[in-house]
Amino acid sequence: MNEETLRVLGIAGSLRVGSYNRWLLRAAQELAPATMQIHAFDLAAIPLYNGDVEERGDPEPVLALKGAIREAGALLIATPEYNYGVPGVLKNAIDWASRAARGERPVLSGKPVAIMGASPGPGGTIRAQLQLRQAFVFTQTYALAAPEVAVSRAHEKFDATGRLTDEPTREYVKKLLLRLADWAPRVRGIA
Ligand SMILES: Cc1cc2nc3c(=O)[nH]c(=O)nc-3n(C[C@H](O)[C@H](O)[C@H](O)COP(=O)(O)O)c2cc1C
Repeated sequence: MNEETLRVLGIAGSLRVGSYNRWLLRAAQELAPATMQIHAFDLAAIPLYNGDVEERGDPEPVLALKGAIREAGALLIATPEYNYGVPGVLKNAIDWASRAARGERPVLSGKPVAIMGASPGPGGTIRAQLQLRQAFVFTQTYALAAPEVAVSRAHEKFDATGRLTDEPTREYVKKLLLRLADWAPRVRGIA
């Protein structure tokens, strides 16, 4: 494993205060290996994508998002699933982040990303995760293939304070982060 600290940008695709996906991201911050730092980016201030607005210049929250992605060695996304897909809040942020001025490299291009998600339903967001992977083909964002962390029956896996208490799920999250720590520096080498 590369012993240099990996700076990871964590993004939860939900704006709810009591969001399972925010809690899952918080669990990842708690469970991250010593060589990884995870900073969370809140999508609440990102406006709806509008090409006319973009032409006048990226709004400040979008600049902040792009800057945070640019600075990060890897991304960690915790996505909810809405109607078998990626919630608009998250897709909208990816749409903004995918854009770059002519001649500039888009910040998502060549960036390693690990994906996870939590849902009270039995599918654990796996369909939304697959949709995210599809979008990342176009943006040339390299998604870690495995392990898949799809937390089903999320309401049974966190306590009232939002702490991830389910031991097998904690182990899955740890495995994902260890794999990301090992893999991301190698992706950056080829990107
Ligand atoms: C509009 C909408 C659509 C949803 N569709 C799905 C779905 O397709 N699959 C699923 O497992 N849960 C679905 N849910 C339930 C969400 O998984 C649940 O609200 C979850 O708590 C959202 O994530 P969060 O806790 O991070 O906000 C849906 C919820 C909403 C509001």
